[in-house]
Amino acid sequence: MPVAIITGASKGLGRALADALAARGWDLVLDARGAEALTEAAQAVSRHGTRVTALPGDVTDAGHRSELVAAAWKFGGVDLLVNNASALGAEPLVRLEKLPLEGLRRALEVNVVAALGLVQEALPLLRASEAGTVIGVSSDAAAEAYETWGGYGASKAALDHLAAVLSEEEPGLRVWAVDPGDMATGLYAAAVPEDRDPRPEPAGVVPAFLRLLDERPVSGRYGAPALLEER
Ligand SMILES: NC(=O)c1ccc[n+]([C@@H]2O[C@H](COP(=O)([O-])OP(=O)(O)OC[C@H]3O[C@@H](n4cnc5c(N)ncnc54)[C@H](OP(=O)(O)O)[C@@H]3O)[C@@H](O)[C@H]2O)c1
Repeated sequence: MPVAIITGASKGLGRALADALAARGWDLVLDARGAEALTEAAQAVSRHGTRVTALPGDVTDAGHRSELVAAAWKFGGVDLLVNNASALGAEPLVRLEKLPLEGLRRALEVNVVAALGLVQEALPLLRASEAGTVIGVSSDAAAEAYETWGGYGASKAALDHLAAVLSEEEPGLRVWAVDPGDMATGLYAAAVPEDRDPRPEPAGVVPAFLRLLDERPVSGRYGAPALLEER
């Protein structure tokens, strides 16, 4: 069975992706900081009958990242790493003039430094896989300049660039930066609490990720809305 590590899998996109992969036979290692929600998510995902290990922890903790990869190794390796856990830097988002520098540091630490740390930790197992794949969950805010999204967007732009360079350095892997598009999740509500416009549920975006895994296009940056439309 293929094995995936998905960070930030207790809710939102990470949980929806975990559920869809388990339904397709993937063994999973899942993380999030909140143990209760993570355990509940892992129990729900386990109904598909594949192996699921849930390890509560913060992706910025190097010891925790090692545990995630060690758990995947026990399942046989790492075929897919999804760096999905994310920090906004300020909740709600604020203009750059007010962005606490500590918030920006946190966004960079979670969205960029921890993501690379997990790649480094998993790289030997990814290289050993027949279909080693790294997905960095990006954002529209990495490519477009939206007021108040500057710190978070800068961190996602950095994540995109790491993915682009990694794909050059590791031609045997697929490395995709994926912009999921707007979704109705806790992260979006925390970012812009006053925005109550309807948004797609994360489960509706998951088929874009499944399409990438099925078709395995070249490494690069992909947008979920286009992947969902162009069939
Ligand atoms: N929602 C959108 O509109 C949107 C748009 C573009 C891109 N994205 C991206 O999509 C991805 C998923 O976001 P989402 O909207 O699904 O968010 P979400 O529903 O808030 O879920 C975030 C998940 O990450 C976990 N998490 C956060 N910080 C963590 C940390 N330091 N270590 C480990 N786990 C952590 C959370 O659990 P704990 O809090 O318990 O740790 C939760 O499981 C993110 O990369 C986000 O930037 C979202």
